[in-house]
Parts: sequence; C-alpha cells; structure tokens
Amino acid sequence: MTSGWKLEETPSQAGKIGVVTGANVGLGFETAKALAARGMEVVLACRNREKAKATKDKIIESHAQASLHIMELDLSSLKSVRSFAEKFKQQFEKLDLLVNNAGVMLTPYQITEDGFEQQMGINYLGHFLLAGLLLPKLEAAENTRIVTLSSLSHNWGDIYFDDMAFEEGYSSRKAYGQSKLACLMFAYEMQRRLKARGHSTISLAAHPGISDTELVRNLPKFIHLMAKVLAPIFIQSAAEGALPNFTDSFR
Ligand SMILES: NC(=O)c1ccc[n+]([C@@H]2O[C@H](COP(=O)([O-])OP(=O)(O)OC[C@H]3O[C@@H](n4cnc5c(N)ncnc54)[C@H](OP(=O)(O)O)[C@@H]3O)[C@@H](O)[C@H]2O)c1
Repeated sequence: MTSGWKLEETPSQAGKIGVVTGANVGLGFETAKALAARGMEVVLACRNREKAKATKDKIIESHAQASLHIMELDLSSLKSVRSFAEKFKQQFEKLDLLVNNAGVMLTPYQITEDGFEQQMGINYLGHFLLAGLLLPKLEAAENTRIVTLSSLSHNWGDIYFDDMAFEEGYSSRKAYGQSKLACLMFAYEMQRRLKARGHSTISLAAHPGISDTELVRNLPKFIHLMAKVLAPIFIQSAAEGALPNFTDSFR
C-alpha cells in the first residue's frame, strides 16, 4: 500500500503527552516512534522493561530529540493496570492521548490472575480499566483522545455473556473475536458518553488492515511461512499499518 500522506506534514505535537500500550514492537512501536518524531512526550507502556529499553534506544537512534518514558504495564493484571495509572497520575499533570494498542491473538487457553480469558483480559478489560482510571487526566486538557485498536475479526465472535471465559469449551478464534468486538464497542460507547458529558475528549477506533507484526506469534509455523510468501501482495508493513493509529491521534 502506498500513501501520499507524510508524517512531516502533520501538526507538531510538542507540549503533548501520550501513552502507547504495547509500544515494544509492531504497530505500537511505529505509533510511538511517529508521535515522538512530531514532538510528543511518549510513555512506552510495556510489560517487559528490557524490551522497552531496547525500543527506547531504537527510537532515539533515529530521533535524537525524542522524549520517552518507560512505565511497566501488564494488561493481564488489573493490579498492574492500577499501579501504572497511579504512577502516571503522580508523574504527569495531564494526558493528551491514550492509544489502547497492546494485544494478543489466538493464544492457547489461559486465565488471567483476575479470572478472565486471556485475550479478553488483555485486549479489552485491561484497557477498559486503564482508560477509566486515566480519564481524569484526559479531561484535564482540551481536545484529548483515546484511540483503540479494532480489527475486522470483531466479526469472528460475539459477546458470550453466558460464558465469557469459555469455561464450557474454548475457541481461540471466537475469544479473539469477542475481545476485538468489545474493543470496538468500547470505542463507540466511550465516544457517546464523552459527548454526553460535554467534554472535548474524543474516543476513536483505528484499524491497521493486515500488517506485518508479531501478532501471529501463536499461529503454526506453516502460516508464518505462507505469510512471508504472501506478504508483498496482501500484507502491509507495521509502519503503514500504524498510519490509522497516529492519524487518529493527530489534530
Ligand atoms: N497486525 C495486524 O494485522 C492487526 C490487525 C488488526 C488489529 N490489530 C491489533 O493491533 C494491535 C497491535 O498488534 P500488533 O499487530 O502490533 O501485534 P504485536 O507485534 O504482537 O504487538 C503486540 C504488543 O502488545 C504487547 N502486549 C501483549 N500482551 C501484553 C500485556 N499483557 N501487557 C502489556 N502489553 C502486552 C506486546 O508486548 P511484548 O513485546 O512484551 O510481547 C507487544 O508490544 C492489537 O490490538 C491487535 O489486535 C493488528
């Protein structure tokens, strides 16, 4: 995919503060890099501090002026989400942009420490709590944004209210679909509620198309091989896939 859209043509983000979850690799990395390149102070909200340090160095290699912070966040743990939000609130006066990016796909059956099926826990419920806890900081400034990563796979499932944790039989596909449908519904409902409150914060969903990232890590090896062959035809780079993330973020 080619785009006539150039990062350099976007408004400066100097003076703004952003949080990108899962900024280590893939779309999160490209989003954080682009925001930092335009002058935003970016918090890399990552579960793995070592990987986050390497990410920070990599961004600084190409953008020496980048202002980056590493803060630990494991979205599979509500305790970790609360601790992240507490530290953020102590350290920063306001938040201009929250990018709910981190995610896992088609994982083997696993229950989080809070009792949620893992994909629902990480992709949706962790971000739901995070956004709620950070809302006062988002409302401490004007025209702030929450960007949530959606996926066409919201069509793969439903919200299984009677068995949300798949205790009666697991389908990794349905569970991923459920989590991404919840993310999309969250983005819409959050927007509706923010508008009703009359505040200038907005909530948006961003879709990255099919992008070449590590999201496929749980899929069988032959799919990785097939993806390599098909990539030039059907799959775009993570940098291209991140475009909707940061176009949604700019104003
Ligand atoms: N790639 C696509 O084609 C595509 C299509 C539609 C939607 N999406 C969505 O795009 C988002 C980003 O995915 P991606 O493609 O960039 O995948 P990725 O390369 O696998 O990156 C996912 C990121 O999420 C982080 N993460 C996973 N579990 C976490 C946890 N418990 N706590 C905190 N961070 C965690 C990972 O951290 P580690 O580095 O520590 O593992 C990684 O930084 C996801 O929400 C996905 O659903 C992607």
